Amino acid sequence: MNAIVAVCQDWGIGYQGQLLIHNKADMHSFVEHTTGGTVIMGRTTLEGFPGKRPLKNRRNIVLTRSPDYAVEGAEVVHSVDEALAAVAGDDPDHVWVIGGESVYRQLLPHCERAIVTKNDCLRPADAFFPNLDEDAGWHVASVEPGGQTKTGISFSFVTYERN
Ligand SMILES: NC(=O)c1ccc[n+]([C@@H]2O[C@H](COP(=O)([O-])OP(=O)(O)OC[C@H]3O[C@@H](n4cnc5c(N)ncnc54)[C@H](OP(=O)(O)O)[C@@H]3O)[C@@H](O)[C@H]2O)c1
Repeated sequence: MNAIVAVCQDWGIGYQGQLLIHNKADMHSFVEHTTGGTVIMGRTTLEGFPGKRPLKNRRNIVLTRSPDYAVEGAEVVHSVDEALAAVAGDDPDHVWVIGGESVYRQLLPHCERAIVTKNDCLRPADAFFPNLDEDAGWHVASVEPGGQTKTGISFSFVTYERN
């Protein structure tokens, strides 16, 4: 299983339910990696998507503790164990944890790889991804320069792998 995330310098990932940076190349990379696979997300992340709708061309799994929550085009699960059971038959290379903070923190221990878009800037944030640079359990496997966003923010694609 993989995590995929976009962070700022302090590993901030979101503020008031929204992403911190608009980065088209990052969106393309996200679509390229996840299309055809399974994405697992928290209810808050789903509701931050346009129209609060699941992602096209992917199997969507949404975590919520609400017993009656339902959303067209997604499977709803109510615990981490239920989420893990739901993807047990999938190819782990094509299962993607896509956030937000609470879901990353709970599912990262089950991930072998994290694809991190690192935006070279700081923004006010209330949601963070665990800092993998300070985690002895992970190492950088590759770094690919991404270029600059429309507003001039440099970014790179960093792949971390579990040791
Ligand atoms: N930069 C990035 O790459 C990226 C990616 C994704 C999200 N984000 C950002 O992250 C922020 C959202 O993060 P978040 O932590 O607030 O929300 P979240 O993880 O998206 O969703 C939290 C919700 O998921 C459900 N949930 C979590 N753990 C569960 C469990 N063990 N069992 C059942 N349900 C569970 C609960 O839903 P209920 O309340 O319905 O019970 C919980 O309130 C937003 O700002 C978003 O933009 C950033």
